[in-house]
Amino acid sequence: MIIKSLELADFRNYETLKIDFSSGTNILYGDNAQGKTNILEAIFLSATTKSHKGSKDKEIIRFGKDEGHVRTILEKDNAEYRVDMHLRKNKSKGIAIDGQKIKKASDLIGRLNVVFFSPEDLSIIKNGPSERRRFMDMELCQLDQIYLNSLSKYNKLVIERNKVLKDLYEHPENSVLLDVQDKQLYEYGSIIIKTREKFIKDLNEIIRPIHEKLTGSKEYLSIYYEPNVTADDFEKKLRSVRQKDIYAKQTTVGPHKDDFSFIVQKKKDDESLAEGIDIRKFGSQGQQRTASLSLKLSEIEIVKKAKKENPVLLLDDVLSELDSNRQNYLLNTIGDIQTIITCTGLDEFVNNRFAIDKLFKVTDGTVSSEN
Ligand SMILES: Nc1ncnc2c1ncn2[C@@H]1O[C@H](COP(=O)(O)OP(=O)(O)OP(=O)(O)O)[C@@H](O)[C@H]1O
Ligand SMILES: [Mg+2]
Repeated sequence: MIIKSLELADFRNYETLKIDFSSGTNILYGDNAQGKTNILEAIFLSATTKSHKGSKDKEIIRFGKDEGHVRTILEKDNAEYRVDMHLRKNKSKGIAIDGQKIKKASDLIGRLNVVFFSPEDLSIIKNGPSERRRFMDMELCQLDQIYLNSLSKYNKLVIERNKVLKDLYEHPENSVLLDVQDKQLYEYGSIIIKTREKFIKDLNEIIRPIHEKLTGSKEYLSIYYEPNVTADDFEKKLRSVRQKDIYAKQTTVGPHKDDFSFIVQKKKDDESLAEGIDIRKFGSQGQQRTASLSLKLSEIEIVKKAKKENPVLLLDDVLSELDSNRQNYLLNTIGDIQTIITCTGLDEFVNNRFAIDKLFKVTDGTVSSEN
């Protein structure tokens, strides 16, 4: 799947915009605050129905307007698809595929797969567990409809259950609701836990060789799933922490508290592996950034394997954050994947003699094609 074109109306700082992309490497360059990332955000939205920054629709609509539009034309196996999004200030967004309204956001997700890479992603390992969960969820939601539905139901349930817990003092009669909610939490939560378990197993096989290459065979990386509770124990555990939850006024167990550890073993001169260190806590900054890059590169492979097609790669200003070895590795990995790169200068490409298929200059909400 590739993106042939993108049209925007009253989206962020764009009044109107139309861009035709190449199926190869596209560069959007320009000074800060001109609207480069906004274009990637629009593409990400078309793939996932959400902003990569977690912004609300009303924040995305151009200042002073009540609605905005995003249209993408996609191409797969020589057929074209049109995805229209209608963003509204006080209502949920409308989505149509080839003019047909879709009822659930999940009917869109998975059609267009994107891998979004921003400088903040280089901190996934250093940051807190919620960032790591967000990464895994974003990936799994694109790949697995059942996971997507279970996660959205689970998250809603946690909010509802916490509300019941908060109000229980005034409304003790609501305690029967907790029994119903616990049952549903277990039902959806155990799907989430089992899917994450399998995902980490698959991810390890993919990330290891990538990380080995990125570190010149000096490091061996393993990711471990650290579930807050196992699927088998979840139901029992919910029951046993009920009093504690009532006291804390929140749901204290479940996959919304999960984490993932990143363990690096250095290769010794005799090829044996040193004892592993948890790089979340003890990794150097460079080690953490390289592992984050390995994680992002694995995402590309995971999509290729699961979907039997290439994702679209969105690189938001990351090249300047990487040293030249890693830049080269990244640019070489791209191969024949459609890539849309934002940057402020073109040095990285000139220095690496890297081929550019289409070059766009972004200036204050306008985009001009330079080749
Ligand atoms: N809802 C909105 N309506 C109008 N303009 C907006 C809206 N949201 C953000 N902007 C503007 O969009 C611009 C930022 O765009 P963007 O983040 O795409 O910049 P950028 O070119 O990626 O910059 P940088 O190189 O600093 O990352 C800012 O000037 C901001 O004021
Ligand atoms: Mg930007």
